[in-house]
Amino acid sequence: MLASAPIMASSKLIALLPGDGIGTEVITQARRVLDFYREKRGMNLDLWSLDLGADRYLKDGTTYPKEIRERIEREASAVLLGALGDPRVPGLEHARDILFGLRFGLDLYANVRPVKALDDRLVPLKGRTAKDVDMVVFRENTEGIYVGMGGQFKRGTPDEIAINEDLNTRKGVERLIVAGFEHARKHGIGVVHMADKSNAMRHAHELWLRVFREVAKDYPGIEAVHAYVDALAMYMIQDPSVIQVIVTCNLFGDILTDIGAALQGGLGMACSANLHPGRLLGLFEPVHGSAPPLAGKDVANPFASFLTVGLMMSQFGHPELDALIEDSVRESVAAKECTRDVGGALGTRASADGCIARVAAKLG
Ligand code: NAD
Ligand code: IPM
Ligand code: MN
Repeated sequence: MLASAPIMASSKLIALLPGDGIGTEVITQARRVLDFYREKRGMNLDLWSLDLGADRYLKDGTTYPKEIRERIEREASAVLLGALGDPRVPGLEHARDILFGLRFGLDLYANVRPVKALDDRLVPLKGRTAKDVDMVVFRENTEGIYVGMGGQFKRGTPDEIAINEDLNTRKGVERLIVAGFEHARKHGIGVVHMADKSNAMRHAHELWLRVFREVAKDYPGIEAVHAYVDALAMYMIQDPSVIQVIVTCNLFGDILTDIGAALQGGLGMACSANLHPGRLLGLFEPVHGSAPPLAGKDVANPFASFLTVGLMMSQFGHPELDALIEDSVRESVAAKECTRDVGGALGTRASADGCIARVAAKLG
């Protein structure tokens, strides 16, 4: 049981953006954790629900309005996002406006994605257990192939051309790599891996390799290991226990963290924080998407969103509340009081009930 000292005196405005598909279902449950902290523990949380996503876009064309953007920038301490993506919006324009509007607009350059298995049963690799899977991916979050530079020419003709530029700046690469090394230093981790493709992308990724080696000189106690991303993807499967911190570009981070999700029990268990180190305001989201085939069936695993609330609590200066959520999820999975994707037989709501009861019992 945790000491019941008053927690979090200063008020925190949290924007809740459930979004689309299972995003709305998992955020409904994650909100209960926040409500619980607020009502039962007197935490000073002000929850602000945002009606943004595919429904709203289809109704009146709204994606990410200026007034909301400005209030978030001015007043919010965190944004909790479910997922965006809906088959009725095949071009995903609302999703891009909102998701990239938040990530780029708030300059949240470090997409921090822990890959941690919470139960031996969740690790799909032969001969490996949960202790072998415990790493954090630092994914660059404001540059790369995601910036939308490029275009199409002669679209729909046999001479069609399609280009997406991969934009990498010295500042952007360096600050992300520094964030990874700082994490390692803070947590006493002795090795940082950097994944690039400098053997093929010799301009953009030569920059990554050079900056990685330069930054590494400032951290003499930490081994800096460079790996081409294709090889690193293989090492993650062959022996994940040798990897503790990965720094990488936007696209590779996206791909490697879905591989990571597979190592920890699937996307229903993968959480993330989009941060600008040194600032409070962050965007917190499960790694998974809106999973349209699962939507509305009460089958989505809410634990990725619970663990995401945990990351928010750490960012608010309460790592003990993060650990408490993680322990509650771990126990729920061990007891098979969880959804089918992680070996249980419960629905979204019932698995959330059990986990919140564990949180409550620990808080006393
Ligand atoms: P997805 O993450 O929605 O689903 C991929 C697979 O993981 C599916 O098999 C699904 O069943 C499973 N899964 C995901 N979350 C789960 C959960 N909570 N519980 C149990 N199983 C879960 O990825 P997708 O199918 O590639 O994308 C669907 C839509 O979501 C697309 O529009 C995509 O662009 C969008 N997307 C959005 C975000 C985001 O908003 N951050 C992230 C990823 C994908
Ligand atoms: C993620 C998602 C997004 C990304 C998509 C929806 C654009 O896959 O958050 O991992 O690629 O960043
Ligand atoms: Mn992804």
